[in-house]
This record gives sequence, structure tokens and C-alpha cells, in this order.
Amino acid sequence: MTEASVAYNPFEPGFAEDPYPQYEAMRAHQPVHESPFGIWLLFRHDDVLRFLRDPSLSVEDANAKPTILDKFADEVMGDERDRETGTRAMINRDPPDHTRLRKLVSKAFTPRRTEGLRPRVQELVDASLDQAAAAGGMELMSDYAFPLPFAVISEMLGMPPTDSDKLRDWSGTLVRTLEPVVDPALMHAILEASKNMRGLITDVIAWKRNNLSDDLLSAMLAAEENGDVLSDEELLEQVMLLYIAGHETTVNLIGNGMLALLRNPGQLERLRSDPPLDGGAVEELLRYDSPVQMTRRITLTEVEIGGKTIPDGVFVVCGVASSNRDEAHWGPTADTVDITRPNAKEHLSFGGGAHYCLGAALARLEGQVAIGSLVRRFSTIEPTADPEWNGRLNLRGLEKLPLSVAP
Ligand code: HEM
Repeated sequence: MTEASVAYNPFEPGFAEDPYPQYEAMRAHQPVHESPFGIWLLFRHDDVLRFLRDPSLSVEDANAKPTILDKFADEVMGDERDRETGTRAMINRDPPDHTRLRKLVSKAFTPRRTEGLRPRVQELVDASLDQAAAAGGMELMSDYAFPLPFAVISEMLGMPPTDSDKLRDWSGTLVRTLEPVVDPALMHAILEASKNMRGLITDVIAWKRNNLSDDLLSAMLAAEENGDVLSDEELLEQVMLLYIAGHETTVNLIGNGMLALLRNPGQLERLRSDPPLDGGAVEELLRYDSPVQMTRRITLTEVEIGGKTIPDGVFVVCGVASSNRDEAHWGPTADTVDITRPNAKEHLSFGGGAHYCLGAALARLEGQVAIGSLVRRFSTIEPTADPEWNGRLNLRGLEKLPLSVAP
């Protein structure tokens, strides 16, 4: 195959179900790829790692020159286009703002505080498993994978009880901004979801000011009031980021991870009989089918990589899921699930450098408890229908996987 005959096409039917053959072709023939939309993509492990760790790159969209997709969004949305939402969240800020915002929130995510959540995570998991046992089955995503991280991040933040169906709907729509959007109806839906979610979180913050407690939102409010270090808008955007990042990702670790085990019964059996493997298994499942397929950096100057020159002001997609299957790094078993793989932790599913996932320890904890407990609670776990995928390119995961279970 020549370079010209390979094209990255995430809109090809079947891509959302299985993007890995395309990633493999891109790694082999065009590992540094300029897409027709004007964004560039990296597919190899070493290139992705280098970009993630390079402090001379930006994450602020304003530093990228407008692409065809931007111009299209301008045409569709006109004055209604929302260029502000999200721009103050730490994941979209460079230093010094990034350093300041991350420091403030990091205190809640120390390994000690995270480990302290283990009993509560186990309790939530056991309650869901009791229900599945009584019913003889469950729909993996809506009954198990989604409620756990949603409850954990809501409790950590100290959210009052809210309409979780609505919130799930809004946040599910909002995360579509993490991939190319070419559907005008979806653009309007995203704007609507963003307004609704901002409204709700604004109300929650107002309520919390009068109901301070021992939770993350109270701690952030206290930081704001003591040192005037977080503006109202900054606070709102960190809460939205934590809320969305806290559950839209871990849900896919549990869903994709369980599917990988069900498709590899020998590995599932191994995990079932050997609980100390839980930690390594979660690293391997994160590697094998990454819950977040890509992250991004923006060039501020020309950058030479893989024999190509990426111009300045370019949005560069770092293909972490592709890098996790790169034979040049992982060897000939890159496409195989092996829960005892000694270097599984070298996956790039949590990104890298200054923006390395702040919730990684929490996600690992939730994944270990959810997956380990499920495989050990039931001796039989069987899909009763084919998996349904959520159709997303980035936060790619299952929409539905009905299971029957027996003790
Ligand atoms: C399996 C689950 C998760 C995955 C795969 C994941 C993945 C990622 C990735 C790829 C990034 C971007 C890193 C980069 O660009 O270098 C990120 C950033 C982030 N994640 Fe996660 N995440 C997960 C769970 C969580 C959880 C549970 C939380 C919080 C409760 C969280 C909070 C964050 C935050 C705040 C950032 C921004 C960090 C920064 O910009 O400094 N994530 N995550």
C-alpha cells in the first residue's frame, strides 16, 4: 500500500465499532497525517508520547488557526456560536493558569484521599451486583458502568440530589465537542446542553455556598473566598470538567474492559481466580481498548516530527488508542489481551506531561473494584445480545450490552 492509498476516515461505516484496523494502516503508512479538515494526527506511540510531554505545545484553542470545521461552525451557528464555554477549564489552559487551577483541585485527588473512597466504591458496586443477582442479569452500561462513576463524582463534589437522567443526557451531548462535528442539528443540541448544564451547576454552586461541607466543591469555594484565586467562571468550569471527566470516561473503562474479557474467556477466568491481578488487568484493559481514544496539543511554532513539518497554529490529535497498539512499542502481541503484560502501565490512555489525567488514581480504583467484583460475584456472565456502540470517535464505548448472570 502506498501513502496516498491510505486515508484516515473516521466516518467510514464500522469505524466506531472497531477503529483499530485503520489505526494500524495509518501507523504503517502515514503515522504523521494531515487531514483534509486541516488538523494533523499522530498514530505512533513514540510520536504521541513526545507531543504529550512537550511543554512548548499549547492546549488553548485560541492559538490554533481556524480550520474548515471552524468556518463551517461559524456559518451554521453565526452569532449564536459559543466560543467561551470550556476555555477556563484546566484541560484547556496553558501555564500559568493551568498550574494554578490544577494545584487548587489536586488536593482532593491525593492517593490517600482516593484510596479512602475504596469502601464506598465497593458498597456501590455490591448494591448493583445484588440487584443483578436478584434479576438474573443486567444491562451492563445503564445498570452498572454508568451509575458507579456518576455517583462517586457527585458525592466527591457534594452535589445535591439532581435529575441524573437529564444530566447524563446533557453531558453526553456536550462531550461530542471532543470530536469533529459536522451535523448542524448536533451543533444546536450541544449549545442547548451547554446552557442547561451551566445553569444547573450555577444553581448548585449558589446552593453550596449556604451548605458548605467536607466535599470538593466546598473546598474549592473556600479556596476562592480565602485567596480570591478562582473566579466564579473558573469555578463553574472546573466543576463542569470534573463532573464530565469523572464519569464519561470511567464508564468506558468498565464497559470496554468487560467486553474485552468476555471476548477472551481465558483471561476472564484467570482474573476471576487471581484477585491480586486486578491492578495489572485494569492497566491492560486501559491499553487494549482506551476509554478516551485521543487528546490534543496545538503547535505554536513549526514542529518536525516523523520526517514531516507541522506548521504553527495547528490542532494536532494525539492518538493514544492507536499508540497503545503500536507493535513498535508493544511487540507482536500488541493486539492481544494479556492481563499479566508486565509493561501494560506504559499505555498512554491517561495522556501525559502537565495535563496527565488528574483522576487517574480514582479511575483505576473504580475500574479495579467494578471489574474484579463483577467477575468474582458470578460464575456465569453471558451477553444476551450483540454489543451496541455509542458511535463516538473519542469517548468511544458501549451504549448497551445486556448480560445474563448466574452465581
Ligand atoms: C478511565 C478513566 C479516565 C480516562 C481514560 C481519562 C483520560 C484523560 C485524558 C486522556 C486526559 C487528557 C490528558 C492529556 O491531554 O495529556 C485527562 C485529563 C483530565 N482528567 Fe481524566 N480520565 C479518566 C478519568 C477521570 C476521572 C475519574 C476524573 C476526575 C474525577 C478525571 C479528571 C481529569 C481532569 C481534571 C483532567 C485535566 C487535567 C489537566 O488538564 O491538568 N479523569 N483524562
